[in-house]
Amino acid sequence: MTKLAAFNFQSWIEEHRDLLKPPVGNQQIWEDTDMMVTVVGGPNKRTDFHDDPVEEFFYQLEGDMVLKVFNNGEFSDIVIREGDIFFLPKHVRHSPQRPMEGSVGLVIEPQRPDGLKDAFEWYCFDCGSLVHRVEVVLKSIVRDLPPLYEAFYADEQARTCSNCDALHPGKEPPEGWVTIPPTSGKG
Ligand SMILES: [Fe+2]
Repeated sequence: MTKLAAFNFQSWIEEHRDLLKPPVGNQQIWEDTDMMVTVVGGPNKRTDFHDDPVEEFFYQLEGDMVLKVFNNGEFSDIVIREGDIFFLPKHVRHSPQRPMEGSVGLVIEPQRPDGLKDAFEWYCFDCGSLVHRVEVVLKSIVRDLPPLYEAFYADEQARTCSNCDALHPGKEPPEGWVTIPPTSGKG
């Protein structure tokens, strides 16, 4: 066990800034802890919605992001601006979008109790129906997700909406799906 000591968070961010952009995009501060403290950078776009069996805390440090959510049957955008904090209840479907290059945010969530599954879902861009859902016992956010995404992107049958037959584009969301409205009355 190393000696317990505080360290400067801003310095940590500067030291890891290269990892906070593509292709990696995120970094966990402490390994093997019950509480997963992750720093996530931009730019990053994704089309999946996460069904998390545990709560998530967001603190946006640099730049703005938007959390797309599907809650009570409705899609909406939650804009999380620089300096904002946000608490996401468990199981609220969400898709974090970080289009801003150089943006940095903190996300804190607990490890899942044994056997509790995460799920990832894709919704039809044409009719809003659920197109595909994958459930997984998540061991590593970094290692477990890419193969799961690739399998969906490669599977045309899984990407076909059973409600309207539209083909989900896979990795790339339609143009204009991710927007961050300008701040008003600032400056
Ligand atoms: Fe559809």
